[in-house]
Amino acid sequence: MKMLTVFFSAAAVVCSLSGVASGQNNGATLFQSRCVMCHGADGKGTPTGAALKVVNLHSPAVRKLSNAEMATVIRKGKNMMPAFGNSLTSPQIESLISHIRELQKK
Ligand code: HEC
Repeated sequence: MKMLTVFFSAAAVVCSLSGVASGQNNGATLFQSRCVMCHGADGKGTPTGAALKVVNLHSPAVRKLSNAEMATVIRKGKNMMPAFGNSLTSPQIESLISHIRELQKK
């Protein structure tokens, strides 16, 4: 059941991506197209995210992750967080992390 949910969320993510130009490297745009459905535009999480036990990106635990640790989670996934290592380049992951750091300042 858990795997099935992951599969469907991953499929939804892939579908929502087809419109995005490859090589897109703007943190805010990438976050909007790949992450918002679970994390919310403000990083605090959506109902979909909550069902998957999403973490608030403003939480102290996430704030204190290093950029390298964050990049690893984005590449490899964690629990219900999907892995993006096959669909995002390192520069794209870097821009996403910068975008999350900006969100955390708000
Ligand atoms: C299908 C829903 C979903 C999508 C899409 C998603 N995430 Fe997550 N994310 C999660 C969940 C669930 C967690 C909590 C994982 C845990 O700690 O159990 C999480 C956790 C995180 C964390 C915190 C990791 C930690 O160690 O606490 C970061 C950073 C993160 N996501 C970034 C992103 C970025 C960047 C994207 C877009 C590329 C993204 N997420 C897309 C569900 C999602």
